Amino acid sequence: MPSAENSTEKTLAELGVRTPEAVSALFAGLRERANKEQRWIDQSDKFEQFRVKWVGRKSGILTQVTENWLKPSDPELKRIVGQVLNEFRTHLQRLVDQAQQDLDVRAGQAADARERIDLSLPGVIRPTGSHHLIRQVFQEIEDIFFSIGFSVVEGPEIETPYYNFEALNIPEFHPVRDDMDTFYLELPPSSDKKTAPTPLLLRTHTSPMQIRTMEKHKPPVRVIVPGKVYRRDNPDATHSFAFHQIEGLAVDTDITFCDFTGTIEYFVKQFFGPSVKTRFRPSYFPFTEPSVEFDVSCPFCGGTGAAAGGGTCSKCKGAAWIELFGAGMVDPAVYGFVNYDAKKVSGFAFGIGIDRLAMLKYGIDDIQVFFQNDVRFLRQFP
Ligand code: DAH
Repeated sequence: MPSAENSTEKTLAELGVRTPEAVSALFAGLRERANKEQRWIDQSDKFEQFRVKWVGRKSGILTQVTENWLKPSDPELKRIVGQVLNEFRTHLQRLVDQAQQDLDVRAGQAADARERIDLSLPGVIRPTGSHHLIRQVFQEIEDIFFSIGFSVVEGPEIETPYYNFEALNIPEFHPVRDDMDTFYLELPPSSDKKTAPTPLLLRTHTSPMQIRTMEKHKPPVRVIVPGKVYRRDNPDATHSFAFHQIEGLAVDTDITFCDFTGTIEYFVKQFFGPSVKTRFRPSYFPFTEPSVEFDVSCPFCGGTGAAAGGGTCSKCKGAAWIELFGAGMVDPAVYGFVNYDAKKVSGFAFGIGIDRLAMLKYGIDDIQVFFQNDVRFLRQFP
Protein backbone atom coordinates (compact mmCIF):
# COMPACT_ATOMS: atom_id res chain seq x y z
CA MET A 1 0.00 0.00 0.00
CA PRO A 2 1.53 3.38 -0.94
CA SER A 3 2.09 5.79 1.96
CA ALA A 4 -0.85 8.03 2.47
CA GLU A 5 1.35 11.09 3.04
CA ASN A 6 2.73 12.00 -0.34
CA SER A 7 0.70 9.59 -2.47
CA THR A 8 -1.04 12.42 -4.30
CA GLU A 9 2.25 13.77 -5.65
CA LYS A 10 2.81 10.59 -7.58
CA THR A 11 0.98 9.05 -10.51
CA LEU A 12 -1.06 5.89 -10.16
CA ALA A 13 1.55 4.03 -12.15
CA GLU A 14 4.25 5.15 -9.78
CA LEU A 15 2.07 4.02 -6.90
CA GLY A 16 1.54 0.66 -8.53
CA VAL A 17 -2.20 1.08 -8.62
CA ARG A 18 -3.68 -0.73 -11.56
CA THR A 19 -7.07 -2.11 -10.65
CA PRO A 20 -10.38 -0.44 -9.94
CA GLU A 21 -10.31 -1.96 -6.45
CA ALA A 22 -6.92 -0.42 -5.76
CA VAL A 23 -8.22 2.95 -7.00
CA SER A 24 -11.20 2.72 -4.65
CA ALA A 25 -8.96 1.74 -1.75
CA LEU A 26 -6.64 4.66 -2.48
CA PHE A 27 -9.51 7.16 -2.48
CA ALA A 28 -10.99 5.54 0.64
CA GLY A 29 -7.69 6.23 2.45
CA LEU A 30 -7.79 9.88 1.41
CA ARG A 31 -11.41 10.19 2.42
CA GLU A 32 -10.54 8.77 5.82
CA ARG A 33 -7.81 11.38 6.29
CA ALA A 34 -10.07 14.20 5.23
CA ASN A 35 -12.80 13.05 7.59
CA LYS A 36 -10.39 12.92 10.49
CA GLU A 37 -8.92 16.37 9.84
CA GLN A 38 -12.33 17.92 9.39
CA ARG A 39 -13.32 16.79 12.87
CA TRP A 40 -10.49 18.85 14.38
CA ILE A 41 -11.71 22.13 12.99
CA ASP A 42 -12.76 24.35 15.88
CA GLN A 43 -11.69 27.81 14.74
CA SER A 44 -11.91 29.76 11.53
CA ASP A 45 -8.15 29.72 10.88
CA LYS A 46 -8.12 25.91 11.12
CA PHE A 47 -11.05 25.83 8.75
CA GLU A 48 -9.15 27.94 6.27
CA GLN A 49 -6.08 25.68 6.53
CA PHE A 50 -8.28 22.64 5.90
CA ARG A 51 -10.02 24.23 2.96
CA VAL A 52 -6.79 25.31 1.29
CA LYS A 53 -5.12 21.96 1.91
CA TRP A 54 -7.93 19.90 0.41
CA VAL A 55 -9.75 21.99 -2.15
CA GLY A 56 -7.39 24.95 -2.66
CA ARG A 57 -7.31 25.55 -6.41
CA LYS A 58 -3.54 25.87 -6.84
CA SER A 59 -2.04 22.99 -4.90
CA GLY A 60 -4.87 21.46 -2.92
CA ILE A 61 -5.01 17.68 -2.70
CA LEU A 62 -8.03 17.63 -4.99
CA THR A 63 -6.02 19.45 -7.67
CA GLN A 64 -3.05 17.13 -7.17
CA VAL A 65 -5.25 14.10 -7.54
CA THR A 66 -6.66 15.48 -10.76
CA GLU A 67 -3.21 16.30 -12.10
CA ASN A 68 -1.32 13.24 -10.89
CA TRP A 69 -3.86 10.46 -10.68
CA LEU A 70 -6.52 11.23 -13.25
CA LYS A 71 -4.76 12.95 -16.14
CA PRO A 72 -1.77 10.59 -16.65
CA SER A 73 -3.72 7.38 -15.85
CA ASP A 74 -4.10 4.56 -18.32
CA PRO A 75 -7.16 4.92 -20.52
CA GLU A 76 -8.74 1.76 -19.11
CA LEU A 77 -8.47 3.07 -15.53
CA LYS A 78 -9.31 6.69 -16.35
CA ARG A 79 -13.05 6.19 -16.40
CA ILE A 80 -13.16 4.66 -12.97
CA VAL A 81 -10.66 7.18 -11.55
CA GLY A 82 -12.82 10.03 -12.91
CA GLN A 83 -15.91 8.55 -11.33
CA VAL A 84 -14.36 7.98 -7.92
CA LEU A 85 -12.71 11.41 -8.10
CA ASN A 86 -16.11 12.99 -8.71
CA GLU A 87 -17.54 11.30 -5.65
CA PHE A 88 -14.48 12.35 -3.65
CA ARG A 89 -14.90 15.97 -4.79
CA THR A 90 -18.54 15.97 -3.70
CA HIS A 91 -17.55 14.44 -0.40
CA LEU A 92 -14.87 17.08 0.23
CA GLN A 93 -17.29 19.88 -0.63
CA ARG A 94 -19.74 18.44 1.88
CA LEU A 95 -17.01 18.33 4.56
CA VAL A 96 -16.13 21.98 3.88
CA ASP A 97 -19.76 23.08 3.96
CA GLN A 98 -20.42 21.16 7.13
CA ALA A 99 -17.35 22.62 8.86
CA GLN A 100 -18.40 26.12 7.86
CA GLN A 101 -21.88 25.53 9.21
CA ASP A 102 -20.56 24.14 12.49
CA LEU A 103 -18.37 27.20 12.93
CA ASP A 104 -21.31 29.52 12.29
CA VAL A 105 -23.42 27.71 14.86
CA ARG A 106 -20.56 27.86 17.36
CA ALA A 107 -20.10 31.63 16.78
CA GLY A 108 -23.82 32.16 17.26
CA GLN A 109 -23.79 30.25 20.52
CA ALA A 110 -20.79 32.22 21.76
CA ALA A 111 -22.52 35.49 20.91
CA ASP A 112 -25.66 34.33 22.70
CA ALA A 113 -23.65 33.46 25.77
CA ARG A 114 -21.92 36.83 25.68
CA GLU A 115 -25.12 38.77 25.29
CA ARG A 116 -27.26 36.80 27.65
CA ILE A 117 -28.95 39.03 30.21
CA ASP A 118 -28.54 37.79 33.71
CA LEU A 119 -31.63 38.98 35.51
CA SER A 120 -30.22 37.96 38.85
CA LEU A 121 -27.40 40.54 38.67
CA PRO A 122 -27.92 43.69 40.70
CA GLY A 123 -29.10 46.58 38.50
CA VAL A 124 -27.27 49.81 37.78
CA ILE A 125 -28.16 52.26 40.50
CA ARG A 126 -28.43 55.74 39.06
CA PRO A 127 -28.55 58.38 41.73
CA THR A 128 -31.62 60.51 41.20
CA GLY A 129 -31.47 64.16 42.05
CA SER A 130 -34.10 65.95 44.03
CA HIS A 131 -35.73 69.33 43.95
CA HIS A 132 -33.71 72.14 45.43
CA LEU A 133 -35.14 73.36 48.71
CA ILE A 134 -36.13 76.66 47.07
CA ARG A 135 -38.06 74.73 44.41
CA GLN A 136 -39.74 72.70 47.14
CA VAL A 137 -40.83 75.83 49.00
CA PHE A 138 -42.13 77.34 45.75
CA GLN A 139 -44.17 74.18 45.26
CA GLU A 140 -45.46 74.25 48.82
CA ILE A 141 -46.62 77.85 48.48
CA GLU A 142 -48.07 77.32 45.01
CA ASP A 143 -50.12 74.39 46.32
CA ILE A 144 -51.57 76.54 49.09
CA PHE A 145 -52.62 79.24 46.64
CA PHE A 146 -53.92 76.70 44.08
CA SER A 147 -56.28 75.47 46.78
CA ILE A 148 -57.96 78.89 46.92
CA GLY A 149 -58.27 79.50 43.20
CA PHE A 150 -55.03 81.25 42.26
CA SER A 151 -53.12 80.25 39.15
CA VAL A 152 -49.41 80.53 38.36
CA VAL A 153 -47.92 82.85 35.77
CA GLU A 154 -44.27 83.48 35.04
CA GLY A 155 -42.52 86.42 33.46
CA PRO A 156 -39.21 87.64 32.08
CA GLU A 157 -36.20 88.16 34.33
CA ILE A 158 -34.97 90.85 31.95
CA GLU A 159 -37.35 93.79 32.23
CA THR A 160 -37.77 97.33 31.03
CA PRO A 161 -37.68 100.15 33.59
CA TYR A 162 -41.30 100.80 32.65
CA TYR A 163 -42.56 97.47 34.00
CA ASN A 164 -40.08 97.26 36.85
CA PHE A 165 -40.70 100.82 38.06
CA GLU A 166 -42.84 103.35 36.24
CA ALA A 167 -46.02 101.33 35.76
CA LEU A 168 -45.75 100.34 39.41
CA ASN A 169 -46.04 103.97 40.30
CA ILE A 170 -42.32 104.36 40.91
CA PRO A 171 -41.25 107.32 38.75
CA GLU A 172 -37.64 108.09 37.98
CA PHE A 173 -35.82 109.65 40.95
CA HIS A 174 -38.32 108.16 43.40
CA PRO A 175 -36.31 107.33 46.54
CA VAL A 176 -37.46 103.66 46.70
CA ARG A 177 -35.40 103.05 43.59
CA ASP A 178 -32.35 103.35 45.83
CA ASP A 179 -33.32 100.08 47.54
CA MET A 180 -33.70 98.41 44.21
CA ASP A 181 -30.41 99.18 42.55
CA THR A 182 -29.90 96.48 39.99
CA PHE A 183 -27.94 95.32 36.97
CA TYR A 184 -28.49 97.08 33.67
CA LEU A 185 -27.75 95.39 30.38
CA GLU A 186 -25.27 97.03 28.09
CA LEU A 187 -27.00 97.05 24.74
CA PRO A 188 -25.61 97.94 21.32
CA PRO A 189 -27.02 101.17 19.81
CA SER A 190 -29.96 100.81 17.41
CA SER A 191 -29.04 100.02 13.81
CA ASP A 192 -29.88 103.52 12.56
CA LYS A 193 -27.93 104.99 15.50
CA LYS A 194 -30.59 107.70 15.86
CA THR A 195 -32.44 106.35 18.87
CA ALA A 196 -30.83 105.30 22.09
CA PRO A 197 -31.47 101.63 22.94
CA THR A 198 -34.28 100.96 25.41
CA PRO A 199 -32.52 100.27 28.68
CA LEU A 200 -33.06 96.78 30.03
CA LEU A 201 -32.43 95.57 33.55
CA LEU A 202 -32.63 92.43 35.65
CA ARG A 203 -35.93 92.74 37.48
CA THR A 204 -35.59 93.70 41.12
CA HIS A 205 -38.87 92.10 42.12
CA THR A 206 -41.66 89.98 40.65
CA SER A 207 -44.08 92.93 40.84
CA PRO A 208 -43.68 93.83 37.10
CA MET A 209 -45.80 90.75 36.43
CA GLN A 210 -48.73 92.53 38.12
CA ILE A 211 -48.65 94.99 35.23
CA ARG A 212 -48.05 92.41 32.51
CA THR A 213 -50.90 90.26 33.85
CA MET A 214 -53.40 93.10 34.08
CA GLU A 215 -52.45 94.35 30.61
CA LYS A 216 -53.40 90.95 29.21
CA HIS A 217 -56.41 90.01 31.32
CA LYS A 218 -59.55 91.81 32.39
CA PRO A 219 -60.64 91.30 36.02
CA PRO A 220 -61.16 89.01 37.82
CA VAL A 221 -57.45 88.27 38.16
CA ARG A 222 -56.02 85.89 40.72
CA VAL A 223 -52.40 84.94 40.09
CA ILE A 224 -49.18 84.16 41.84
CA VAL A 225 -45.79 84.66 40.18
CA PRO A 226 -42.84 82.60 41.37
CA GLY A 227 -39.45 83.71 40.07
CA LYS A 228 -35.90 84.93 40.41
CA VAL A 229 -35.09 88.56 41.11
CA TYR A 230 -31.85 90.54 41.27
CA ARG A 231 -30.36 93.41 43.21
CA ARG A 232 -26.93 94.94 43.57
CA ASP A 233 -26.60 93.78 47.17
CA ASN A 234 -23.31 92.72 48.67
CA PRO A 235 -23.47 89.05 49.63
CA ASP A 236 -23.75 88.22 53.32
CA ALA A 237 -25.77 85.80 55.42
CA THR A 238 -29.07 87.47 54.46
CA HIS A 239 -28.28 89.15 51.12
CA SER A 240 -27.56 87.80 47.68
CA PHE A 241 -27.47 89.42 44.24
CA ALA A 242 -30.07 86.87 43.14
CA PHE A 243 -32.95 85.60 45.21
CA HIS A 244 -36.53 84.38 44.85
CA GLN A 245 -39.97 85.83 45.29
CA ILE A 246 -43.60 84.91 44.84
CA GLU A 247 -45.78 87.79 43.84
CA GLY A 248 -49.51 87.61 44.43
CA LEU A 249 -52.27 89.65 42.84
CA ALA A 250 -56.05 89.48 43.18
CA VAL A 251 -58.23 92.06 41.48
CA ASP A 252 -62.00 92.01 41.06
CA THR A 253 -65.00 94.28 41.42
CA ASP A 254 -65.63 93.58 45.09
CA ILE A 255 -62.36 92.72 46.86
CA THR A 256 -62.09 94.20 50.34
CA PHE A 257 -59.39 94.60 52.93
CA CYS A 258 -61.00 91.64 54.74
CA ASP A 259 -60.51 89.38 51.73
CA PHE A 260 -56.91 90.52 51.74
CA THR A 261 -56.10 89.79 55.39
CA GLY A 262 -58.19 86.60 55.33
CA THR A 263 -56.22 85.27 52.35
CA ILE A 264 -52.86 86.12 53.89
CA GLU A 265 -53.86 84.60 57.21
CA TYR A 266 -54.98 81.41 55.47
CA PHE A 267 -51.68 81.17 53.67
CA VAL A 268 -49.54 81.80 56.76
CA LYS A 269 -51.41 79.20 58.83
CA GLN A 270 -51.16 76.64 56.04
CA PHE A 271 -47.45 77.27 55.74
CA PHE A 272 -46.40 77.51 59.41
CA GLY A 273 -49.18 75.54 61.09
CA PRO A 274 -52.62 76.45 62.47
CA SER A 275 -51.41 77.73 65.84
CA VAL A 276 -49.54 80.82 64.54
CA LYS A 277 -51.04 84.26 64.70
CA THR A 278 -50.63 87.00 62.14
CA ARG A 279 -50.54 90.75 62.46
CA PHE A 280 -49.87 93.59 60.09
CA ARG A 281 -48.14 96.90 60.55
CA PRO A 282 -48.45 99.93 58.34
CA SER A 283 -45.76 100.19 55.72
CA TYR A 284 -45.11 101.88 52.41
CA PHE A 285 -44.90 100.66 48.84
CA PRO A 286 -45.59 102.97 45.90
CA PHE A 287 -47.89 100.44 44.24
CA THR A 288 -50.12 99.64 47.23
CA GLU A 289 -52.31 101.86 49.34
CA PRO A 290 -52.60 101.16 52.17
CA SER A 291 -49.42 99.11 52.43
CA VAL A 292 -48.66 96.71 55.22
CA GLU A 293 -45.92 94.48 56.50
CA PHE A 294 -47.16 91.08 57.64
CA ASP A 295 -45.70 89.44 60.73
CA VAL A 296 -46.21 85.95 62.07
CA SER A 297 -46.04 84.98 65.73
CA CYS A 298 -42.73 83.13 66.06
CA PRO A 299 -43.51 79.50 65.18
CA PHE A 300 -40.38 78.33 67.01
CA CYS A 301 -41.00 79.71 70.49
CA GLY A 302 -44.79 79.71 70.21
CA GLY A 303 -44.80 83.50 70.16
CA THR A 304 -43.31 83.87 73.62
CA GLY A 305 -39.87 85.12 72.65
CA ALA A 306 -38.30 82.68 75.11
CA ALA A 307 -36.16 79.68 74.25
CA ALA A 308 -37.27 76.30 75.58
CA GLY A 309 -34.20 75.89 77.79
CA GLY A 310 -34.27 79.47 79.04
CA GLY A 311 -32.94 82.66 77.45
CA THR A 312 -34.32 84.31 74.34
CA CYS A 313 -35.55 82.51 71.23
CA SER A 314 -32.78 82.55 68.64
CA LYS A 315 -35.23 82.77 65.72
CA CYS A 316 -37.18 85.87 66.68
CA LYS A 317 -34.42 87.23 68.96
CA GLY A 318 -36.94 87.49 71.76
CA ALA A 319 -39.31 89.67 69.73
CA ALA A 320 -42.04 86.97 69.63
CA TRP A 321 -42.92 88.13 66.10
CA ILE A 322 -41.18 87.56 62.81
CA GLU A 323 -41.47 89.94 59.89
CA LEU A 324 -42.71 87.99 56.88
CA PHE A 325 -43.42 90.07 53.78
CA GLY A 326 -44.88 93.24 52.30
CA ALA A 327 -48.36 93.56 50.87
CA GLY A 328 -51.25 95.94 50.44
CA MET A 329 -54.32 97.01 48.50
CA VAL A 330 -53.39 97.81 44.91
CA ASP A 331 -52.87 101.56 44.56
CA PRO A 332 -55.54 103.01 42.21
CA ALA A 333 -52.75 104.81 40.35
CA VAL A 334 -51.52 101.44 39.12
CA TYR A 335 -54.88 100.69 37.48
CA GLY A 336 -54.33 103.80 35.38
CA PHE A 337 -51.33 102.12 33.72
CA VAL A 338 -53.30 99.05 32.66
CA ASN A 339 -56.60 100.56 31.60
CA TYR A 340 -58.57 99.23 34.53
CA ASP A 341 -61.33 101.44 35.87
CA ALA A 342 -60.09 102.36 39.35
CA LYS A 343 -63.63 103.26 40.36
CA LYS A 344 -64.94 99.78 39.59
CA VAL A 345 -62.15 97.43 40.63
CA SER A 346 -60.17 96.79 43.78
CA GLY A 347 -57.63 94.22 44.83
CA PHE A 348 -54.60 93.28 46.85
CA ALA A 349 -51.02 92.31 46.17
CA PHE A 350 -48.19 90.77 48.11
CA GLY A 351 -44.55 89.91 47.56
CA ILE A 352 -43.08 87.01 49.49
CA GLY A 353 -39.33 86.51 49.79
CA ILE A 354 -38.88 82.78 49.34
CA ASP A 355 -35.30 82.45 50.53
CA ARG A 356 -36.16 84.19 53.80
CA LEU A 357 -39.20 81.97 54.33
CA ALA A 358 -37.24 78.81 53.56
CA MET A 359 -34.47 79.86 55.94
CA LEU A 360 -37.00 80.51 58.67
CA LYS A 361 -38.94 77.31 58.23
CA TYR A 362 -35.95 75.00 57.80
CA GLY A 363 -33.57 76.67 60.26
CA ILE A 364 -30.97 77.81 57.72
CA ASP A 365 -28.82 80.71 58.84
CA ASP A 366 -26.98 81.64 55.64
CA ILE A 367 -28.72 82.46 52.36
CA GLN A 368 -25.50 81.70 50.44
CA VAL A 369 -25.97 77.93 50.87
CA PHE A 370 -28.88 78.09 48.43
CA PHE A 371 -26.52 79.08 45.66
CA GLN A 372 -23.39 77.11 46.47
CA ASN A 373 -24.76 73.77 45.26
CA ASP A 374 -22.94 71.84 47.95
CA VAL A 375 -24.50 68.39 47.84
CA ARG A 376 -23.97 67.98 51.58
CA PHE A 377 -26.51 70.76 52.00
CA LEU A 378 -28.81 69.67 49.17
CA ARG A 379 -28.99 66.07 50.44
CA GLN A 380 -30.53 67.26 53.69
CA PHE A 381 -33.66 68.15 51.76
CA PRO A 382 -34.32 65.13 49.54
N1 DAH B 1 -42.02 94.15 45.34
C1 DAH B 1 -41.73 94.40 46.74
C2 DAH B 1 -40.27 94.19 47.00
O1 DAH B 1 -39.65 93.42 46.32
C3 DAH B 1 -42.53 93.48 47.61
C4 DAH B 1 -43.99 93.75 47.58
C5 DAH B 1 -44.56 94.58 48.52
C6 DAH B 1 -44.78 93.22 46.60
C7 DAH B 1 -45.88 94.86 48.52
C8 DAH B 1 -46.14 93.51 46.58
C9 DAH B 1 -46.68 94.32 47.55
O2 DAH B 1 -46.94 93.01 45.68
O3 DAH B 1 -47.98 94.59 47.55
O4 DAH B 1 -39.74 94.77 47.91
